[in-house]
Amino acid sequence: MKRTIKTLTAASVVAAIVGAGVVYFGVFNVGADDPHSQAVHSLLSTARDRSIEVRSRDIEVPDLTDEALIRAGAGNYNAMCIGCHLAPELAQTELSKSLYPAPPNLSKLGVDGNPAAAFWIIKHGIKSTGMPAWGKSMSDPYIWGMVAFLQQLPGMDAQEYRALAASSGGHQHGGGESMMHNHEGQHDGQEEATSSHHHDAGGAEELAEADVHHGDTIGAHAHGDVTPSRDDGVEHAHPDGVGASHDAPATSAAQPKTHTHADGKEHTHAQ
Ligand code: HEC
Repeated sequence: MKRTIKTLTAASVVAAIVGAGVVYFGVFNVGADDPHSQAVHSLLSTARDRSIEVRSRDIEVPDLTDEALIRAGAGNYNAMCIGCHLAPELAQTELSKSLYPAPPNLSKLGVDGNPAAAFWIIKHGIKSTGMPAWGKSMSDPYIWGMVAFLQQLPGMDAQEYRALAASSGGHQHGGGESMMHNHEGQHDGQEEATSSHHHDAGGAEELAEADVHHGDTIGAHAHGDVTPSRDDGVEHAHPDGVGASHDAPATSAAQPKTHTHADGKEHTHAQ
């Protein structure tokens, strides 16, 4: 008995030292372009599935067939999710092909047969995957809107998808109390300060025109060493072959060095 205890103690000390060595010597590659081994992958996905199952089993699912709910969800999905989760006729984006784990194509997967789990995931996000916790900025009715919309999405073609998103009033998720119409101006201060997307209903018109509207998170960008001058639009081709032209981002390099203050004093910055 004494011997067994000694052996077990020695084994756990060795295991702890090996574990610390793996961490200290950087053996584990955290690069997103280096997939997990089969064993690590199974462990992580089982932990994920069980965690979500346990936490979402008591969530009550509301009526998800309400048209206004689905419509509001379409606008929000189109504004915030397609960069990662795609849409009919949008097979790939820079984000969708580069993230690890890869975001599932929700235009095909929908709610994956479990609306309560989808609601939980959208609200709380998933650690270390890139899936954000949208509950930090959106209230529950708006999240249910996206779940309701996702339930319909796999049955939609590109035209139906665009028409629904365009008719939705775009991105909206203010107080989310009871009404699902445009909540312009009801975002809380933090969201207002950090957001880089449109809040206005004008987004809907833009959507109607855009061939494929990109998530606003990836709206304006340039690649490589290109430093666009202030007036230039930036043209680039997307993986789906759709050429797009965006306004050049106002990079610091493009800011004028000299400006005039309200009191009339002129001021020059070294860049
Ligand atoms: C920056 C990329 C990114 C954005 C933006 C994003 N997601 Fe995700 N999402 C992910 C990733 C990555 C996963 C997969 C996580 C995993 O493998 O555990 C995921 C998983 C999910 C799942 C679970 C799918 C399943 O059944 O396995 C749902 C539902 C979901 N996201 C909904 C949304 C919605 C709705 C939005 C927009 C409000 C959104 N996501 C925005 C990256 C993103």
